Amino acid sequence: MTKNIVILISGAGSNMKAIVNAAASGRWAERFDARIAAVVSNKEEAEGLAFARAHGIATAVVKHRDYATREAFDAALAGTVDAWQPALVVLAGFMRILTPGFVGHYEGRLVNIHPSLLPAFPGLDTHQRAIDAGCRVAGATVHQVTADLDHGPILAQGVVPVLPDDTAQSLATRVLAQEHAIYPKAIEGFLATNGTA
Ligand code: GRF
Repeated sequence: MTKNIVILISGAGSNMKAIVNAAASGRWAERFDARIAAVVSNKEEAEGLAFARAHGIATAVVKHRDYATREAFDAALAGTVDAWQPALVVLAGFMRILTPGFVGHYEGRLVNIHPSLLPAFPGLDTHQRAIDAGCRVAGATVHQVTADLDHGPILAQGVVPVLPDDTAQSLATRVLAQEHAIYPKAIEGFLATNGTA
């Protein structure tokens, strides 16, 4: 049975684009019987949706503002995502904290990318915090999502230097390039081990 991958985005979706491109160049369909089945966003204005449509990938929008509670939104989101019976759900710049119910429903097949070398700097503003702490290296982490925010099993990490004149923006740009390298590879590893990565 084809392994469907559903990617969740909230904005530019640059990680999603890197994954879509890697799925094609890496021949995931032939090698793993896997495909990017859908891109789903909580924001109808997410730029990444147009990219997905242009690549013939199904899209859906579930607006968190349409739901009174986090639980109601997550239930609606899961209902939409489950239409593709995903083997893997990929959070790629998805700017929502998910409820334990959602995480539990997908545990073992839910991954995220965080712009720091976890367990250092969970949460927000990771680049400025690394600069303020005097770090000499920074980077990104691909991890399985569990109920413990930003602390699931680590699947991959990418390291970049922190330069003396770095700003949060210049460091973010360098880290993002690393994200685009490690996320597709981490997903390939997940697919190659049939999800036991
Ligand atoms: C990235 O820094 C990623 O680490 C974080 O969201 C940011 C934007 O990602 N999760 P994208 O360009 O929308 O993929």
